[in-house]
Amino acid sequence: MATLQQTASADVVELFHRYVVPNYIRFPVCLVRGEGSYVWDAEGNRYLDLFPGWGCNLLGHCPPPVVRAVQEQVASLIHVPNTWYTEAQGLWAKALSERSFGGQAFFCNSGAEANEAAIKLARLHTPPERYKIITFTGSFHGRTLAATAATAQPKYHEGLGPLLAGFVYAPFGDLPAVARLIDAETAAIMIEPVQGEGGIHLPPQGFLQCGQRPGRCVNTSRSSSVRRRSGSLRWRVIWHSCKSRLCARLPHSEPDLGCLGLCL
Ligand SMILES: Cc1ncc(COP(=O)(O)O)c(C=O)c1O
Repeated sequence: MATLQQTASADVVELFHRYVVPNYIRFPVCLVRGEGSYVWDAEGNRYLDLFPGWGCNLLGHCPPPVVRAVQEQVASLIHVPNTWYTEAQGLWAKALSERSFGGQAFFCNSGAEANEAAIKLARLHTPPERYKIITFTGSFHGRTLAATAATAQPKYHEGLGPLLAGFVYAPFGDLPAVARLIDAETAAIMIEPVQGEGGIHLPPQGFLQCGQRPGRCVNTSRSSSVRRRSGSLRWRVIWHSCKSRLCARLPHSEPDLGCLGLCL
């Protein structure tokens, strides 16, 4: 196996052209080091990083306490299968639960996988005839097939069909449109509270409070018909956030499921 050496940016770009699938657009710079808000390239140029890795580097590059914790963990146990307990995972779940809206955590490998699990959980915990998930235009939920179907942006769907069935889309922030889409087959409403793909979009006031119970979704004359059509059953509300916290404590706005990705 080739060992790592300080190769010029242009040569690394060449390496990528030859061996790496070009599905992402990249700056023609090879980064070799990061510290706080700065990164350095192979030529020694320093850059102020205003885009912290889609949220992964929210604490800055290589914060010493995180580096230390990772080094210590890797030196004691590098991997533990899910057939054993570890204190660290239990404490992490406790911290997540106490800092958000309670409940238990499911750990997986990525934001897309978290969303897949949330979709499965929502369908598992609603009657079988309820399978539809309402998502919102401009959202991004990941690159697996179900997460792509949930992502209401046609450019991500091109050439991949048929996509997983059961996703219906409403304009972001449009509660009357949500009410029109809810029917007896609705299992969940899946919301990216602060949209991040293609601009930063904040939800309109009151939007996140939607959908907690049939009839509370919209304050229009349609709400009673929504309640009637959906009977006494609740649909699930999934919040999914890779860049922002899920734990904004808004009144009446706790989701049934919360998914966290990159910022974890
Ligand atoms: C809002 C949002 N959801 C989901 C994902 C997918 O997360 P992952 O790349 O960890 O699968 C991303 C990734 O950028 C994202 O920005």
